[in-house]
Amino acid sequence: MKFPGKVAFVTGAGSGIGQATVRAFVAEGAAVTVFDVNGASVRSVVEEIAIAGGRAYGFVGSIADSAHVEEAVFETVKRYGRIDYLFNNAGTELIAPLLETSVDQWDEVMNVNLRGTMLVSKAVLAEMVRTGGGVITNNASDAGLRGIRVNAAYSTSKAAVIHLTRSIALDYAQQGVRCNCICPGCIRTPLCERFNEEVGARHGRSGEDMLNEFVMTNIPMERVGTPEEVASVVLFLSSSEAAYVTGAVIPIDGGLTAGM
Ligand SMILES: NC(=O)c1ccc[n+]([C@@H]2O[C@H](COP(=O)([O-])OP(=O)(O)OC[C@H]3O[C@@H](n4cnc5c(N)ncnc54)[C@H](O)[C@@H]3O)[C@@H](O)[C@H]2O)c1
Repeated sequence: MKFPGKVAFVTGAGSGIGQATVRAFVAEGAAVTVFDVNGASVRSVVEEIAIAGGRAYGFVGSIADSAHVEEAVFETVKRYGRIDYLFNNAGTELIAPLLETSVDQWDEVMNVNLRGTMLVSKAVLAEMVRTGGGVITNNASDAGLRGIRVNAAYSTSKAAVIHLTRSIALDYAQQGVRCNCICPGCIRTPLCERFNEEVGARHGRSGEDMLNEFVMTNIPMERVGTPEEVASVVLFLSSSEAAYVTGAVIPIDGGLTAGM
């Protein structure tokens, strides 16, 4: 096991990439805080881990609410003593070009994807500095690396997450904190399905049809990725095998953003 006795804090842990990463951390011996706004999924993930003999603490709350974030970090440290790894994964999607994006929708995407990631980073970073270090991995997106049509708010928020990653890496390397960013492309999760349904609806096509065409036209590996294929990169970045990696921005996209 890679992480016996270690503690991971995962946001958006009730579904998709977050859930797969929780399972991967637990399989390597870590205790995990399962943080998600969806109470039913938090309970289900925590129960699954308990049945498998792992250690998980569930917290239902929003990363955009500083009181929730402070409480979850406080309770994690009370239970497990420290936080070694943070996976800032929770995020929300909005399919719309700018003229169809209300100011409230813009604020909601920024509040969750950027402000929420900042709030969790700040609270956990303080603990990592206090205990002598740790590793933060932020989940941005291929949408943060270059523009994506009908994705104005989401793409902008994810580009900002990439820069927040670099700022943390620069400012806290001396305190033993590494901070990296992953940029998944098309990963088979509920969020990706909603994206394709909504984009498909704009073209009078099914989400699956839209996705298949996109994959065959744009992804050199000609397939979507799995949440487990993202989780394994998060675990690598968290591990001592990546001891000299900080400030990195790593696409996990089957070659999608390699070029035209
Ligand atoms: N699936 C993809 O193709 C893809 C591609 C690039 C980036 N991403 C990013 O990966 C991350 C995870 O997405 P996923 O595809 O696993 O989606 P998902 O919908 O399966 O999971 C997202 C989880 O985040 C939770 N969440 C949403 N808002 C929250 C909040 N304010 N506070 C706490 N939890 C919240 C949801 O309840 C859900 O459980 C997101 O940041 C997303 O932008 C996904």
